[in-house]
Amino acid sequence: MVIKDELTKFKAIIEDYLDEVLPEEEGYQNEIFKAMRYSVFAGGKRLRPFLTLKTCEIICGDYKPALPFAAALEMIHTYSLIHDDLPAMDNDDFRRGKPTNHKVYGEGMSVLAGDGLLNYAYEIMTKSLAENGDNLDRYVKALSIVSNASGIYGMIGGQVADILSEDKKVDKDTLDFIHKNKTSALIEAAVLAGGIIGGATDEEIVALKEYGQSIGLGFQIRDDILDKIGTMEQLGKDIGSDEGNNKATYLSLYGLDFSINKTKELSNKAKNALKIIGNNEIIVMQELAEYLVSRES
Ligand code: IPE
Ligand code: IPE
Ligand code: MG
Ligand code: MG
Ligand code: MG
Repeated sequence: MVIKDELTKFKAIIEDYLDEVLPEEEGYQNEIFKAMRYSVFAGGKRLRPFLTLKTCEIICGDYKPALPFAAALEMIHTYSLIHDDLPAMDNDDFRRGKPTNHKVYGEGMSVLAGDGLLNYAYEIMTKSLAENGDNLDRYVKALSIVSNASGIYGMIGGQVADILSEDKKVDKDTLDFIHKNKTSALIEAAVLAGGIIGGATDEEIVALKEYGQSIGLGFQIRDDILDKIGTMEQLGKDIGSDEGNNKATYLSLYGLDFSINKTKELSNKAKNALKIIGNNEIIVMQELAEYLVSRES
C-alpha cells in the first residue's frame, strides 16, 4: 500500500509548515503560545491536512497552493480536540499520547488555547487570500466551505447534539446528525478545500464531496468502534470514554457487527465515488478510504 508512505511524507510537510507559521513562544502571552503548540505537536495522524494537500496535488499537480488551508484545518481540528476533552465536555485525561491540554495548562488556558487556534486558523487562511489574488475566487470559496463546516452548521452543531444526547436513547436520525456534523463535515471540507484550490471541475467536486462524506462518517464510526475495542497505547487517548459518558454512538445504537459492516460499505462507496477522476494517483485516496476503516489508531 502506498498510502502509508504518502501519509508519512505529508505528515512531515505539514508539521514543518505548522512549525513555521505558529507563533514563537515569547511575549506576555507566552503561555498561550506554549499551550497551542503543546497540543498541535503532541502528535496526531494529520488526516485533514493530508486530505487537503493530496486532493490539491491530484487535481493540479502541486500541493503547495493548499498549504495554508491544510494548516488551518489542523488548527481547527486541534482546537476541537482541546475543547472536546475539557471537564465540561468529555472530561478526558489523555490525547495524542500525552496528558490533555487542561491537565497541563489548566482549564482557563486550554479554553483560550482552543480559541487561539481557531482564530489563528482564520488569520492564516485570510492571509493566503491576500497572497493569491490570481485565484481569489477559489480561495474565497474554500474559506466559505471551511467556515461553514467548522461552525454551528457543522462541527460545533454536531458537538451540541452530542452533548445534548448524553444519557439519552437517541434515534437513528439524531445519531446521523451528530456524526455527520461533529466529524464528517470537517473531513469533507478538507477534501473540498484541496479540490477547489486546485481548480477541480464541477463533476470532480461532486465526486470529492461524496468521497469526503463517506470517509468522514466511516471515520467517526471507526472512532466509536476503537473507543470500545482499541487500546490506549495505540490510540493515545482514553478508551471507554463513550460508555463512561453515556454517549450516543454507532455501537450503542447498532452494536459492533453492524458498525463494522457499515464502515466497509462506506469505504466502498468512497472508493467508487472517485472513479470519474482520471488520474492514477486517485488510488492513494482509495487506499486511504480502506485504511481509515481498518485503522487501529
Ligand atoms: C479524533 O480525530 C476526533 C474525531 C473527530 C473522531 P483524529 O482521530 O483524527 O485525531 P488525531 O488528529 O489523529 O489526534
Ligand atoms: C469528537 O468526537 C469530535 C470532535 C469534534 C472533537 P469524540 O469525542 O468521539 O472524539 P474523541 O474520541 O474524544 O477523539
Ligand atoms: Mg466528544
Ligand atoms: Mg471525546
Ligand atoms: Mg470518540
